[in-house]
Amino acid sequence: MKILITGSNGLLGQNIINQLLKKGGVDFLATSKGTNRNSNLKEEAYHQLDITNQNEVDSIFEFYKPTVVINTAAMTNVDACEEHREQCWNMNVNAVEYLINGCKKNETHLIHLSTDFIFDGESGPYKESDKANPLSYYGESKYQAEVLIQKSGLKNWAIARTIIVYGVVEKMSRSNVVLWAKGALEKGEPINVVDDQFRSPTHGSDLAKGCLLIAEKKANGIFHLSGKEVMSILELVEKIADFYQLDKSIISPIKSLTLNQAAKRPPITGFVLDKAKKELGYNPMSFEEGLALVTKEIKKFE
Ligand SMILES: NC(=O)c1ccc[n+]([C@@H]2O[C@H](COP(=O)([O-])OP(=O)(O)OC[C@H]3O[C@@H](n4cnc5c(N)ncnc54)[C@H](OP(=O)(O)O)[C@@H]3O)[C@@H](O)[C@H]2O)c1
Repeated sequence: MKILITGSNGLLGQNIINQLLKKGGVDFLATSKGTNRNSNLKEEAYHQLDITNQNEVDSIFEFYKPTVVINTAAMTNVDACEEHREQCWNMNVNAVEYLINGCKKNETHLIHLSTDFIFDGESGPYKESDKANPLSYYGESKYQAEVLIQKSGLKNWAIARTIIVYGVVEKMSRSNVVLWAKGALEKGEPINVVDDQFRSPTHGSDLAKGCLLIAEKKANGIFHLSGKEVMSILELVEKIADFYQLDKSIISPIKSLTLNQAAKRPPITGFVLDKAKKELGYNPMSFEEGLALVTKEIKKFE
């Protein structure tokens, strides 16, 4: 197995790399747009790759000839996608087409990351076979990439959908809900938190394990990989306050509508994990276990 990882500097990307390094004996090439930010990684195991550049994508296939590609790279800021549509489409759809072409020529197993935002959130938690109806441009772009993959004629492909990924890696490009809430509450800053959006928070290491299980088992099709509990964002933040023994009285519940965000969010998502549990042996940790792991990660990476 030769695994090419895109977006290796990201939250999921670094988790995958760290698990591969820990396991040992797997041939892989880490790639991301910027210079390498994972100090565990030897320079020869890293190549800079902008997946929106078709020539660069073709060259990396020619050079490395991967048997598996895990595409974690994406434009992930939902409101930025709403406002910069061309950039979003280029990254989340056109670049996926370049990867599909490379995978076709080389008979490579493509494992592509997608999102709960392909659903409208009217009837979560969702199964893999449920009907997509994205509310945002980000969701639409991720859904259209899924459609491209499914219609591509690729022999081996998997789509791994996930929900709110949290955790800590080295020199993170962006924060996540756990770090944001913990940081604000520790400083005693009052925060407004929506109580009408429900999600299953996912620790980055669980998602990385799920992606590597797909690769090892050469699994095909769509897989839902998230944490196992569905909770409102308010409950999620209250659990963070409880876990770190922080003052909950400065958390104020609000409704999504009052936020005036550029992109619309689905109210209730969450995933049914039965397929991933049965076919992959996916077994995510509880949110509380995830927070305990975050504590260790902060000591290691910050
Ligand atoms: N995070 C979530 O809550 C969430 C929820 C649902 C689905 N997902 C999906 O899960 C996947 C992984 O998310 P994540 O949280 O790990 O994302 P992330 O932390 O934002 O990392 C994405 C990485 O993509 C890289 N990248 C950006 N533009 C690139 C380009 N043109 N070419 C190559 N690499 C590029 C960036 O690398 P550099 O730093 O090197 O520029 C960045 O580190 C994404 O597909 C996302 O849509 C995430």
